[in-house]
Amino acid sequence: RPILCVVGARPNFMKIAPIMRAFAAAEIPALLLHTGQHYDADMNDAFFRDLGIPHPDINLEVGSGTHAQQTAEIMRRVEPVLDQHQPAAILVVGDVNSTIACALVAAKKGVPVIHVEAGLRSRDRTMPEEINRVLTDQISDLLFTTERSALDNLKQEGIDPERVHFVGNVMIDTLHYNLRQAIPASDTLKAQGLDAGLIDSPAGYALLTLHRPSNVDDRTVLTGITDCINRIARDLDLPIIFPIHPRTRGRLMEFGLLDTLDPRRVLCTPPLGYLQLLGLMREARLVLTDSGGIQEETTALGIPCITLRHNTERPITVTEGTNTLVGNQPEAIMGAVTQALAQPAKSGRIPEYWDGKAAERIAAVLKGWSPDRT
Ligand code: UD1
Repeated sequence: RPILCVVGARPNFMKIAPIMRAFAAAEIPALLLHTGQHYDADMNDAFFRDLGIPHPDINLEVGSGTHAQQTAEIMRRVEPVLDQHQPAAILVVGDVNSTIACALVAAKKGVPVIHVEAGLRSRDRTMPEEINRVLTDQISDLLFTTERSALDNLKQEGIDPERVHFVGNVMIDTLHYNLRQAIPASDTLKAQGLDAGLIDSPAGYALLTLHRPSNVDDRTVLTGITDCINRIARDLDLPIIFPIHPRTRGRLMEFGLLDTLDPRRVLCTPPLGYLQLLGLMREARLVLTDSGGIQEETTALGIPCITLRHNTERPITVTEGTNTLVGNQPEAIMGAVTQALAQPAKSGRIPEYWDGKAAERIAAVLKGWSPDRT
């Protein structure tokens, strides 16, 4: 019987690609289910194409909604799929609503749950992802972790360490696999009809991504951040490339902030494909972000990362990598950027098992795994 592999939102796609490849190589039968949480061409199709993910066998087409609507709709639609396909197990990745929704339905139907990227904790329960992480891990039979701190978190929550395997980071598998195909920053800007000459200066440019509700849904916070963007781009003379997530674009328009960004210094684009973003990260002087995955990718690339959050569920990016947590207050952001520009770039260390082979390790564990024993 196959393992039913689940994806739903953009950060899931980078995690599932190497797993599907490793399963095919190890002859582990698998089906791919897409919940449809993300559906726009630039949030979805571009990633399947860039990453060579097989066309999903099943698409639930749930789309957007409140957390309750989205989670409930995924649960309702995934149940008959489990009945029909009788999978040996369900494999979920990361911490999005699709992750908990599918895990919860499977667990209650007695289908073993495998969680990839288990045990990460920000200890911030105002983050919807933190709730998804804690709950998914509690109902998982087999848990794969990306960094050693995750096992301590899981033990504290009473999870049997026998179920936990430290395998490394599948997102970094994807980064290694695709780095040579990364698209040069100037090509990406030209493709968007933007002035590529702006990033020619020796000072380089900063890459900015922003989508957390805590940063973009509050008018005062988002106004402070947009002020910083202009100050960095003009006063600190560091042009900014800003691919805008649909949630963020919506809030910037609603608060009348989109037009306040200086178009000569801040280059706004729609959400970009994986190979484009990888190219932009690799060439950046520094990256400003509130994404989880980008904290890890910049650590793997040795590019300084300034994270607009007070906490991170990925502490190894700070202790070993290139990440600095600054929160979302303007003075803290400006201070961190000024300091980063004054220093030679911090290159950090590559964390253990972030070596491109995490998915192979997962496949090897699954080869010898009998769900009945858990
Ligand atoms: C989700 C994940 C978050 C992840 C992020 C990456 C949860 C709880 N959150 O947040 O962990 O970091 O994806 O992008 O699962 N929208 C579109 N087109 C799309 C998808 C969304 O326009 O293809 C718009 C809709 O207005 C939607 C909003 O974006 O309401 C938010 O989408 P949603 O999937 O609810 O959450 P994200 O903010 O994308």
